[in-house]
Amino acid sequence: MYNDKKVVFSGVQPSGNLTIGNYLGAIRNFSAFSDEYHCYYCVVDMHAITVRQNPAELRRRTYETLALYMACGLDPDKNTLFIQSHVPQHAELGWILDCYTMFGELSRMTQFKDKSAKNADNINAGLFTYPALMAADILLYQTELVPVGIDQKQHLELARDIANRFNQVYGETFVVPEGYIPREGAKICSLQDPTKKMSKSDTNENAVVRILDTKDDIIRKFKRAVTDSDNRIIFAEDKPGISNLLTIYSCMTGKTIEEAQAQFNGMGYGDFKIAVGETVADGLAPVREEFARLMADKAYLEQIMKQGAEEAYRNARRTMSKVRRKIGFTEIKH
Ligand code: TYM
Repeated sequence: MYNDKKVVFSGVQPSGNLTIGNYLGAIRNFSAFSDEYHCYYCVVDMHAITVRQNPAELRRRTYETLALYMACGLDPDKNTLFIQSHVPQHAELGWILDCYTMFGELSRMTQFKDKSAKNADNINAGLFTYPALMAADILLYQTELVPVGIDQKQHLELARDIANRFNQVYGETFVVPEGYIPREGAKICSLQDPTKKMSKSDTNENAVVRILDTKDDIIRKFKRAVTDSDNRIIFAEDKPGISNLLTIYSCMTGKTIEEAQAQFNGMGYGDFKIAVGETVADGLAPVREEFARLMADKAYLEQIMKQGAEEAYRNARRTMSKVRRKIGFTEIKH
């Protein structure tokens, strides 16, 4: 909206080592938008502190997530890559949008219910209002499109409701964003409980394949993946384990599920799991190598952070000044 290009925004929390769910459902799809859109890809460290984080680990993971963005193909000169807490307008708009978000709406968020069950000793207000901050992230940049996995759909719908509500009260202020949820890979499931999504904070390491796991670890985890009792390699509702493996294979290779089924037809589960593991490990090898190269140059990462924050700040300021005016906040001249 602020230049002729439409805007894409997405974010990843630096709250754990990223998984192939984050990769296939979100990050690896990001670079496809870089030519046509002005893309903002943010490391949302402010979201991460809704769950208690170790400060040194949070700092390390913030660098790592930025490096992973780049290792997954995001060119910092073609995308605005930045850290959420470096652009104070996120907190500012987050507070304002809190005042346009209803208690009932936030109470219905399934992620809040899940996370408060998991963190019963720390059900803080930030965990509750998290979706309003996420709406602020998106609306600050007049975003048209938000590429995310399916687990973020409910938050995205709330962001749309908040934008519409605000626009109705004050006149057109925010672009109302659309989600972009990939057809394949929007919900990669746990290898140990394939009825649940793969989550970076899972404490069972065998359930989660991390982008930076070694080849041996990746293959070992796939070998242990839960399947079922018969021996057919088909995509079916009553075969969540096999369906999940077929999905992962199809996302990694670009083959359709039907092609993958045909290829593995007649193979035993043991060999099938090894084949998927090898495909994933080999497919991620270039990402791992590029990641290691980038992490060795902290000064370069810091330069990218700075460049991204400055660019994001410039555009965030424009939305904020509009919002302040509409709401009736007074202004002083600097
Ligand atoms: P986060 O950090 O949990 O996940 C980052 C992205 O990865 C996707 N994802 C998955 N996709 C497929 N299968 C899975 N198992 C899987 N697990 C995670 C997520 O859908 C997401 O796209 N609230 C967001 C971060 C956020 C954000 C935003 C996203 C904050 N502000 C604004 C978009 C726009 C989150 O917790 O993502």
